[in-house]
This record gives sequence, structure tokens and C-alpha cells, in this order.
Amino acid sequence: MKTNTLKISLIISGLLVSSSAVAIGGFDFSSSPKGKDQFLPPSSGNSSFALKPLKDADFRQSDPAQVELGRNLFFDKIMSGNENISCGTCHHVLTSTADSLSLSVGEGGRGLGHPARDTGTGVDAIVQRVPHNSPDLFNRGLLEINVLFNDGRIFPDSNFASGFNSPAGHQLPVGLDSILAAQNILPLTNVTEMAGQAGENDVADAAVNEIFEGPNGVWELLLIRLRGIPEYASLFQAAFDDVNSAADMNITHVGNAIAAYIGTSFRADNSPFDRFLRGDKRAMSVTAQEGMRLFYDGNAKNLGGMTCGSCHSGTLQTDQDFHAIAMPQIGPGKGDGVNGREDFGHFRVSGDENDLYKFRTPSLRNVVLTAPYGHTGSFDTLRKVVDHHVNAIYSLYNYDTSQAQMPSRSDLDAIDFEVMENPYLVDKIAEASEIKKLKYSKKDIDKIMEFLYALTDPASLDIRDKAPRTVPSELPLAD
Ligand code: HEC
Ligand code: HEC
Repeated sequence: MKTNTLKISLIISGLLVSSSAVAIGGFDFSSSPKGKDQFLPPSSGNSSFALKPLKDADFRQSDPAQVELGRNLFFDKIMSGNENISCGTCHHVLTSTADSLSLSVGEGGRGLGHPARDTGTGVDAIVQRVPHNSPDLFNRGLLEINVLFNDGRIFPDSNFASGFNSPAGHQLPVGLDSILAAQNILPLTNVTEMAGQAGENDVADAAVNEIFEGPNGVWELLLIRLRGIPEYASLFQAAFDDVNSAADMNITHVGNAIAAYIGTSFRADNSPFDRFLRGDKRAMSVTAQEGMRLFYDGNAKNLGGMTCGSCHSGTLQTDQDFHAIAMPQIGPGKGDGVNGREDFGHFRVSGDENDLYKFRTPSLRNVVLTAPYGHTGSFDTLRKVVDHHVNAIYSLYNYDTSQAQMPSRSDLDAIDFEVMENPYLVDKIAEASEIKKLKYSKKDIDKIMEFLYALTDPASLDIRDKAPRTVPSELPLAD
């Protein structure tokens, strides 16, 4: 990593959060002109974090036939155990590839967003909420992305034949062409998200027993369904050279095709910020430009220590690293702690106590479109989650649970706020926090908000045309 004067001064003043946060954008601000109109953080040559315009070569290029197959698979409920939910339910085109809820309702959920989701009966009954907020899927086709999930459960790892460390362990097949493709076949194995509960269908039974690969595994059981639909057989054959008949269709094709679809369809790199970086100095308002400077540049207003860019570094506003920022935690949790309602974040992956309550720094592309915010969607507006950062500990202790965007369910409500209502557990989140009180004034934050708005690609405002009208299974798209 390139060393620069700014970093050194930060290290000396002891304000760096942790060694992993040294990625202060990778910029050499010391050599950048500070004049109001000339400001453009220079590229540092560090490929991941440099603030340089995105270009075609930064994105994985995909075969249109794979995109078309992926588009159908993404929206087809046949991919879920009970045929009652698709990827597109939680990553919906009407809600900017997320679902507008704090926590996704899993398989069985009906309607779109809040408060339409309610409980089905029989196999459609909802047993628990998904413990994390559904993230957007914008720009996930970028080659530089090297970690997925809020807690970082998937990352490249040569100890695995698949090339990826993931919750599927050694069951993950060989041949997945990207980290995105590896992720794309995991929701199928998740009981709450897509597979269903024990006894409801054969896919669910396999998922409960964590049998994903092999003839009785989740993936093969779903492939049997797809092979029986002639339209899928032709879509697979058109998309992949190694598919000559339905028998050749396999789960790596599914993962790779969905990745081609997501990467191509949800690319969002034409925001005012992008156009500004490409040289159009009028693309962003003066206020947004000031906001950008405050966001990234510790020297902009003698902010000294930590800025937004300390963690949200580079063109994508993420260091792809993990930080504890005292984010309130709502929902069922991930089974951690004495009462099982806690979520230890990246610690779950690394086993390192320093990673307790750390979550991945999210990219802020299109962030205005994807409320609510935080790994459990605990904040309902962008301003509130930004204000949280400025004085995180105060915000944590004064968290207002009424802003949670969750369809009320008397049987689930009881557990939704167990952590936030337990002073001891809130103290633990506060103690782990590494974010300092940020030295931004209210006016600074107003400007930073303008900058965040300038991260919106106008083409992402209406993405309905990315969804098919019908899918090969002929199951309904909506419900
Ligand atoms: C029940 C709702 C639900 C369904 C159905 C669902 N997802 Fe998700 N998705 C989520 C949630 C919640 C997360 C965040 C999980 C986490 O970080 O722990 C997520 C995470 C992801 C991510 C990782 C994004 C990132 O940057 O970390 C991708 C990619 C993704 N989903 C794609 C898919 C695909 C493809 C499907 C269908 C095969 C699918 N999802 C089905 C809710 C859902
Ligand atoms: C110490 C590192 C750090 C700093 C400094 C920081 N953030 Fe964050 N930010 C994070 C992490 C980590 C998350 C995700 C936390 C979670 O989900 O629990 C996050 C979440 C967010 C979100 C929610 C995004 C979403 O999709 O849910 C926004 C918006 C945001 N940050 C903006 C800012 C702004 C603006 C600043 C400066 C005022 C800032 N951040 C400073 C680490 C940081």
C-alpha cells in the first residue's frame, strides 16, 4: 500500500481505527490541489481504492445468452423449495434490487415490501425473519469485488476446490466463474430464504440436513425440475457450450448465468459522480463537490482524523473491509451470545475477537434508493444512518425502534428487539465500536448528503425492464 503524508499524520495522531482501515482511500491528498474548483482526488495507482472513473474493463463481460438465462432463473419461483419465492422477491426491481424492509421476509412472504407482506398458511407459513437486511445488487459485476455478505461469509480461498470460502464449505462446486456466481447458488440452500422448512418438500429436507451437492442434494433436486422444462433446456444450451442436452445442465451453469444477469443488468456507473470523475466538472453541483471533499478528504476542513472516506474509500465508497460502528441490531440475530439473538458479525467468519460486531463497509452507489439502512435495516432514512455515524455511541443508546420497517407479527415481534432492550447487550456493541466522534458540523453533513445523492445513476431509477414478463415454469412472477 502506498504511504502518504496524510496517512502518516493520521497514524501519529493515533486516530486510525485499526490497521485494516489504513486504506484511507489510497489517495495522496498531500499532492492534490486544494483549490475549490480543482479538487479531484488523484489516482494513487492502487487499483482497488483509487478514485478513478469506472470503465468497461472494470466489469466482468458476459454472454447475452447467459444473461437471458440468468434473468429467467432470477425471477422463477421454481428455484425455491415450495415454489413460492424467487431471488427477485427480495431483490425486487420495484425497490431498487432490495426489498424496502428492515429484514426480509423469507419464503412464504407475500406482496411487496412493507406493510403488504403477511403470513401465509401451510407451507407458506413464515417461521422467522431473515436476520439481515437485503442488500442492493448494483455493480456486483465489478472484478474488484472480493468479498460478499455483510459479515464477509464469501471470499476467494485456494483451500477450497471451488476457489471460494463460503457457508457451503467443500460442497461448493468447481467451475463458478466469479465470487458473485458462488454467492448466487447459496440462497437456494437457505431454509428461511428459499428452501422451506423440514417436511415441506424434498429440497427443504436436503437443506435442513445441509446436503447441497450430490444426487440427493438441494442443487440436483432443483436441476431435476429445470431439466423437465424444455424452454430451460434450450436456454441452457444457448448459453453454455458444454450443454448439449438437458442432462448436461448443472448448478455451476445456474450460478454463472445469474451472475451474468446481475452483473450486466444492475451495472450503475453513470451517476453525476461518475460523470464528474470522467471530466465533466459541471456534472455535480458545487455543494455536492464540497460534500465529496468533506467525505473523502481529512484535510478539507481540518477534519484531522476520521472521515467518511476512511472506510468508504475509493470510487465505490468501500474499503471492502470490516468495521464496528455501533450499529443497532434488530431481528432474530444469528444465534450468537447467551440468548442466541446476537450477531457477532465478521467474528463469525474469522474467529478473531477483534472482529466482534464488525460488518462490511457497504458501497454507497445508489444508496438513496435502498432504504432502510444498516445490516439489519435498523435506520429508516439515509439522513438518520449518516447522523448515526457522526456520534455513533449516542445514537446507539438513543435508537428509536419504531422506525424498523417490518410487517408486524405478534409471534415474531417479541424477539425483534431483544438485543436493543437488553442494556448489557447494547453495552457490548458500544464497547466494540471503533468509530470516533466525527468532526462534521450539521452543515457539513448537509453537503455530504448532496454528495450521496450524486451517487445515483439515473438509469437505476426505473429498472422494471430488467425483469421478464413470464418465466419458463409459468409460475406467477408476482403473487
Ligand atoms: C428471502 C429474501 C432473499 C432471497 C429470496 C434472496 N436473497 Fe439475496 N440476500 C438477501 C439477504 C438478506 C442478503 C444479505 C445476507 C447477508 O449479508 O448476510 C442477501 C445477499 C445477497 C447477495 C450478496 C450481496 C453483497 O454485496 O453482499 C447477493 C449477490 C444476492 N443476495 C443474490 C441473490 C440471488 C441470486 C438470489 C436467488 C438465487 C437471492 N439473492 C435470493 C435476501 C434474499
Ligand atoms: C469506521 C468506518 C466508517 C466510517 C468512518 C464511516 N462509515 Fe459508513 N458505514 C461503515 C460500515 C461498517 C457500515 C455498515 C455497518 C452495518 O451495516 O452494521 C456503514 C454504513 C453506512 C451507510 C448505510 C449503507 C447501507 O446501504 O446500509 C451509509 C449511508 C454510510 N455508512 C455513510 C457514511 C457517511 C456519510 C460517513 C461519514 C459521515 C460514514 N459512513 C463514515 C463504516 C464507516
